[in-house]
Amino acid sequence: MNVFITRVIPEAGLQLLKDAGLQVKQWTEKRKLTVDELIEECKWADALLSAGQQLNREFLEASTHLKVIALNSVGYDNVDIATATRLKIPVGNTPGVLSGATADTAFLLMMAAARNAFYMHKTIIDGEWDFFEPTANLGKELTGGTLGVFGMGKIGLEMAKRCAGAFGMKIIYHNRNRNPEAEQELGATFVSFNELLRQSDVISVHTALTPETEGKFDAGVFKQMKSSAIFVNTARGKIHNEEDLISALQNKVIWGAGLDVTNPEPMQADNPLLTMPNVAVLPHIGSATETTRDAMATLAAGNIIAGLKGEKLPSPVNPEIYTDSQHN
Ligand code: DGY
Repeated sequence: MNVFITRVIPEAGLQLLKDAGLQVKQWTEKRKLTVDELIEECKWADALLSAGQQLNREFLEASTHLKVIALNSVGYDNVDIATATRLKIPVGNTPGVLSGATADTAFLLMMAAARNAFYMHKTIIDGEWDFFEPTANLGKELTGGTLGVFGMGKIGLEMAKRCAGAFGMKIIYHNRNRNPEAEQELGATFVSFNELLRQSDVISVHTALTPETEGKFDAGVFKQMKSSAIFVNTARGKIHNEEDLISALQNKVIWGAGLDVTNPEPMQADNPLLTMPNVAVLPHIGSATETTRDAMATLAAGNIIAGLKGEKLPSPVNPEIYTDSQHN
């Protein structure tokens, strides 16, 4: 059977597919496929392993022969899951394996924003490191501060552990459901969204992009945060309104920001956020470590292999397609 892969993936995942006797074709061009190209490539395939590709209704309705779609990501906001479910195509993602690496990135961005780190690095490159000024380049200390986690799932919990361990930060969170592990292990307190905004010295976003979270952090929300607060987003850029964020930072409504995700992506090189001292931006590299990317490709390959055998996926996004006793 045949598997089409939309990007070059780590050898760990490729080898698993080959060892399972599957024919593999990878898209090697450094650009996304158009919908028509993807439909065409998938005509040959029994399964699709998709990274960084929008899978819309048009594509899914033209590809109903696919036995499984495995995403090389935990996020599945770029897939029309309702249509995949209606067409009974199982879709799998990669939860869990990238939580530590993504939380590391959130922690890095929090620190970099708090100490103007990326900006100060650039001043050296620009030849501007001259003399010591006791009143210049001052950042914020995080010890004893309050971390507000928006979305206390696996990644949010890892970020909270790092902040509690490194800086003794008090942890508060807002989530759809209570997280007993965070409450027991870290003494985290569940609060309303308004309280999260009011009390946090750092707000770190770890929720999925959904109709409820899209554009959630806008001008009105930034206004409710502390003027000394740092906003960190490693989840999805569309969860914040970037124009409003720029204006909140320019007008000192909030103090700083750390972003691994932007709106839109890629961010343009002339974006004002890139010249602000207390802002740190990375190009969506939250999960980019060798260990984590290997684990993601391995999990995605496992989803493909299970799906092609007609088995339930190890990590299904739409388990509701399995209605029979064989899969339950
Ligand atoms: C994920 O896994 O969702 C990462 O953000 C990569 O897209």
